Amino acid sequence: MEFQYFLPTKLVFGKATINQIGIYAKQYGTKALVVTGKSSSKRSGALEKIVWSLEKEGVKPEIYDKVLPNPTFEEIENGARFAMEVSADVIIGVGGGSAMDTAKGIAFKMKNEGDLAEYFEGKKAQNAVPIILVPTTSGTGSEGNNIAVMTNPKTNVKKGFRNPSIYPKVSIIDPELMTTMPKRITAFTGMDAFFHALESYISLRCQPFTEMYSLKAMSLIAENLEDAYNNGDDIEKRSCMALASNLAGISIGLSGVSALHAMEHPLSSFFGANHGEGLCPIAVPFLKYIKPHIVKKLASLSTIFKINENLSEDEKAERVIEWISNIIYKLNLPQRLEYFGVNKEDLRILTKHVVEFLTHNLSTTPGNLNYEDIYKIYESAM
Ligand SMILES: [Fe+2]
Repeated sequence: MEFQYFLPTKLVFGKATINQIGIYAKQYGTKALVVTGKSSSKRSGALEKIVWSLEKEGVKPEIYDKVLPNPTFEEIENGARFAMEVSADVIIGVGGGSAMDTAKGIAFKMKNEGDLAEYFEGKKAQNAVPIILVPTTSGTGSEGNNIAVMTNPKTNVKKGFRNPSIYPKVSIIDPELMTTMPKRITAFTGMDAFFHALESYISLRCQPFTEMYSLKAMSLIAENLEDAYNNGDDIEKRSCMALASNLAGISIGLSGVSALHAMEHPLSSFFGANHGEGLCPIAVPFLKYIKPHIVKKLASLSTIFKINENLSEDEKAERVIEWISNIIYKLNLPQRLEYFGVNKEDLRILTKHVVEFLTHNLSTTPGNLNYEDIYKIYESAM
């Protein structure tokens, strides 16, 4: 057994902890750039509270609220230009994955010249400007790792960029900010967190810390996602989902995702799918396809999903996949690729994209999947 564990991020978890953000931000300077999207940080009241806390501690806030879903290199470069103009000492990302990953990208770009594409190819990087993250959804877990998912607009390649410089210094996880999350977003971000936990658990790079965090995350999601979806005001349920998302985010930081995420990425970049929604139609065909390679791992989840202990390993694995299929149905999430306007003729392009650009995710997926395998999985998702 061989593994490493490194997480240089202070995690601050709990109700109303957002009010402390100024105390943390002032450790890094006197001017903070708050990076966010158009709506969620305003709807949740996060933005107002952050501005109040920063000003109270003598930190001047500048707002950059131009974040769009699936951030591109160009958008991140524009944000970095703005951050340099206002001489930001610290970058605060508030929102879902797109806002947090844009903040990571901006902080990185401020200290690293040249095209972001070069850094994806392994160009040596300098440090980034200090980053503080505040999730307002419970899905991506970006606050717990050093990954920023970005899209190259020239190639439509959407993938995770990993660099030690973009670990957040502090992440503030305040479940109260999540009570205003609409049902649909609760559903698909919750499933994104679930697949982070599951994919890192079945990954060939899974290690003991991943196992612990992913199992706990899946168990919290199994017990709380439906209730959080049906009763968004329940702060206990929201807290459990926020914790699950954070744990699953740490897991992917340790062990990465798998072919399922790789197969979703072109759905977002070519068809504009919401990431968490895009995962849903592919998940069940994917798991069924690689089941022979992960029977033991799937069967080991039977207690989490309260599956009869007397069944065979194969039957348990089958029931786990059924549970996933059922929760997707109960949360009214898409079950077919048609939902995103994908036609059968598109499948070759999607498959080629995965095999060409996302090999790192395929290499950690059990089953050694090739072009034909990926095509067949997409085909079953139609
Ligand atoms: Fe994800």
